[in-house]
Amino acid sequence: MLTQLESKPIRSHYALNIRGVSKAFGPASARTVALNHTDFHAVLGQLTMLVGPSGCGKTTLLSIIAGTLTPDEGEVEVFGYKLHAMSRAKLTRFRAQHVGFIFQQFNLIPTLSVWENVGVPLTIAGLPSRKVRDQAFQMLERVGLKGREREYPLKLSGGQQQRVAIARALIHKPPLLICDEPTSALDRETGAQIMEMIRDIAREPTRCVVVVTHDARIYRYADSMAKMEDGRILKILNTSEEIEADRHGD
Ligand SMILES: Nc1ncnc2c1ncn2[C@@H]1O[C@H](COP(=O)(O)OP(=O)(O)OP(=O)(O)O)[C@@H](O)[C@H]1O
Ligand SMILES: [Mg+2]
Repeated sequence: MLTQLESKPIRSHYALNIRGVSKAFGPASARTVALNHTDFHAVLGQLTMLVGPSGCGKTTLLSIIAGTLTPDEGEVEVFGYKLHAMSRAKLTRFRAQHVGFIFQQFNLIPTLSVWENVGVPLTIAGLPSRKVRDQAFQMLERVGLKGREREYPLKLSGGQQQRVAIARALIHKPPLLICDEPTSALDRETGAQIMEMIRDIAREPTRCVVVVTHDARIYRYADSMAKMEDGRILKILNTSEEIEADRHGD
């Protein structure tokens, strides 16, 4: 079983509070600055969308929020935990307990059945196989895949595979859900269904959801939007009216 992190109160009213974060890649002679002293915030119970052109640093920022990448400078506070000051081992525990991931290409394991894929976070946490199966079956029912539990992922449609990925991302009840281009590999209608599901998850009062996208068709699912360019958040839109007005160039 996972060792529990010592519990700490959430001091900031932000679930995510990122301040002055920078990250560069490569040797000094060929440095790429991915994040340049940027700030970013998100609250519980909302879907926060992060948008911007290719290469502006969206995935880098998500990776820092999720604790898979360490910033060169700046402060990263997630639910009151200071990730920038955590050891690698603590970061791994933090991720296992607090973060669920959804990716563009689903990232399912083709040699595991649907329920075994969904159960991976619990198996890693050391839960006995019977309990993993029971919980995986329950999650699959929640995402509309009852009856498909024993099939293999590649037999499912793209939308169904993304539902499996959502079930896997949520099975350990993480308060933070990170989605990197979750609809890019899906057709318009399937993408809309997946976004409706992600939006419902985001409205849960103990959940913080961040979605990175290029896809203007799904902007309407955002409760707030951070617009990124050249490694910085340049603009924050806090209501659907502001997002709509910005889309039409007001
Ligand atoms: N591991 C890495 N090694 C070297 N350079 C990297 C690495 N990861 C990202 N970069 C560079 O950092 C910059 C930001 O990359 P990032 O992946 O965060 O962009 P993005 O906004 O997610 O782009 P996209 O929309 O295409 O996914 C890019 O110039 C990229 O080439
Ligand atoms: Mg990216």
